Amino acid sequence: MLILGIETSCDETAASVIEDGYKIKSNIISSQFDVHEKYGGIVPELACRKHIENIDIVISAALNESQVSLKDIDLIAVTHGPGLIGSLLVGLSTAKGMAYALNKPLVGINHIEGHIYANFLEEPKTPLPSIALVVSGGHTELYVIKKHCEYKLIGRTRDDAAGEAFDKVAKMLKLGFPGGPIIENLARKGNPNHIEFPRALMSKDSFDFSFSGLKTAVSYYIKKNKNFVLEDVAASFQEALIDVLVTKTIKASIKEGIKDIILAGGVASNNLLRKEMLKKAMEKELRIHIPKPLLCTDNAAMVACAGYYRFKDKDFDKDSFFDFLDLDAVANLRLV
Ligand code: KG4
Ligand code: ZN
Repeated sequence: MLILGIETSCDETAASVIEDGYKIKSNIISSQFDVHEKYGGIVPELACRKHIENIDIVISAALNESQVSLKDIDLIAVTHGPGLIGSLLVGLSTAKGMAYALNKPLVGINHIEGHIYANFLEEPKTPLPSIALVVSGGHTELYVIKKHCEYKLIGRTRDDAAGEAFDKVAKMLKLGFPGGPIIENLARKGNPNHIEFPRALMSKDSFDFSFSGLKTAVSYYIKKNKNFVLEDVAASFQEALIDVLVTKTIKASIKEGIKDIILAGGVASNNLLRKEMLKKAMEKELRIHIPKPLLCTDNAAMVACAGYYRFKDKDFDKDSFFDFLDLDAVANLRLV
């Protein structure tokens, strides 16, 4: 079964063809980094315009690389939220137009579900139920995946997302955008124990997160210590944030009695997070599943993979796909 995935929820124009839910035949990602870099963050209007310019080129490239033609495609899967509304609309309108013209079924995918399914591209046999930690630029959430396409939310951030905290701290330190990879690189040369930054909600039973206090603590620290060592600030900030993510995820897994943990989203490409999570999980005899970094950040293969499981789940009636022509883009779409 061949699935075309389309992803335009933020600043990446992406298209992918996958076969049977796990074989990646192509995974094209066109980054808009050059467009947004000089503004220090994503400008929604520019992101939308750039998607319009790129979408056809990216889809053609995905089909060419996989050496399949449109008529061979069995299903079109497209992200319809959450994300920037103008950006989402470009991918969704394109997918709808193709589904209508080609008489193919269409399935709308939640971007968060896409991130989770990046794992099933590489490890289709990951046992369920599993715990999923989703850490991206807009989301920090802990779920129990009860079975395919069925989730229970057990914790979420009360303010900033983990990726957002990386991006805001990088901006504060005038390091550029996106902040995660820049801070991770600097932190390699710093002392993670140099500054004891706060770990909010750490001792609480709740699985909620809060990162705005950590961000404010970094801001106070650099104002008070004019000669601060950049690498030490980066390393200490990263250590505090990752400490909270790892501790809460392991606690959740033990409390729920679930031994498999999936990491998802852009922040899951962070090497310290991957290493610490593996280390702590090993101590507790838990199993960690993390996609390779390229599949953690935004891509369309993960969307196509989620589409495969939605299709198998018969979440939508494949004979009445025209219903999906009224599928809407939803900026704050929730997974549960
Ligand atoms: O999942 P993603 O590509 O897009 C969203 O859905 O938001 O995640 C982007 C976020 C950004 O905030 C970026 O700074 C962060 O992921 N990120 C990282 C790393 N690579 C990307 N954060 C920490 N360490 C990294 N290596
Ligand atoms: Zn994402």
